[in-house]
Amino acid sequence: MSIASSSKVPRHTAIIMDGNGRWAKERGWPRLKGHEQGALNVETICEACIHEGVEYLTLYAFSTENWKRPALEVAGLMLLLERFLSEKVAMMNKNGVRLAAIGRMADLPEAARKRLERAIEETSRNTRLTLTLALNYGGRDEIVDAVRSIAAEVGEGKLKPDQITAETISSHLYTRTMPDPDLLIRTSGEMRISNFLLWQLSYTEIHVTSKLWPDFGADDLHAAIVDYGSRERRYGASVENLTNSANAS
Ligand code: IPE
Ligand code: IPE
Ligand code: MG
Repeated sequence: MSIASSSKVPRHTAIIMDGNGRWAKERGWPRLKGHEQGALNVETICEACIHEGVEYLTLYAFSTENWKRPALEVAGLMLLLERFLSEKVAMMNKNGVRLAAIGRMADLPEAARKRLERAIEETSRNTRLTLTLALNYGGRDEIVDAVRSIAAEVGEGKLKPDQITAETISSHLYTRTMPDPDLLIRTSGEMRISNFLLWQLSYTEIHVTSKLWPDFGADDLHAAIVDYGSRERRYGASVENLTNSANAS
């Protein structure tokens, strides 16, 4: 495939689901109400992704920095995760959704971690959409973990330092079995990455919407995909080169 012939559907869409707190605040409700509504929206967006032909959906659900929030909010988020996993396996199996997770799972509360492992196993034979939840996920920690495992291989004599390439690093990240995201969506207007997929986003198209996550619907996803389709992905090449390679293919 030439660099100019990118598909119009982002095969891998990643979302920073932001704005639950503001959604609740606008209504004078506690923040957890916003998180509950945000969790409900995951089903809507999964189904919309399947409809649009997206193959990988990666959702930033809890960052390594989110532990800094009040203990009650963190505990509420963990309970919500458990509830989501218990209630949504049937929906995932009905829709052909295979669940995966990235992040340092060992630090999640045991009940949530066990439920997650079970849901991953129970959906492992589905093939339509891979839904990856980023949980206790930090892009820097992911790179640290990759560097540690590469260093261990060097220490054991399995790998020489000059054999380490960008591909070596990609293949030691949590995301090693999936393509890099084509499209990153961030809801609620913030123009930052917040430690999400630092390595993988190097040439991802970014779509920021002011919609708060609980309000982000199938039509908003469609608008983001249309926006993606209008982008010219250059990967550092000049416009002339793009035109030439498009003509040649
Ligand atoms: C995103 O919503 C959910 C998580 C980070 C877990 P926020 O809770 O960050 O919502 P805002 O940014 O305060 O509105
Ligand atoms: C990013 O949102 C993390 C998740 C959506 C899980 P935050 O609300 O935590 O990010 P900042 O603090 O605004 O950068
Ligand atoms: Mg936020």
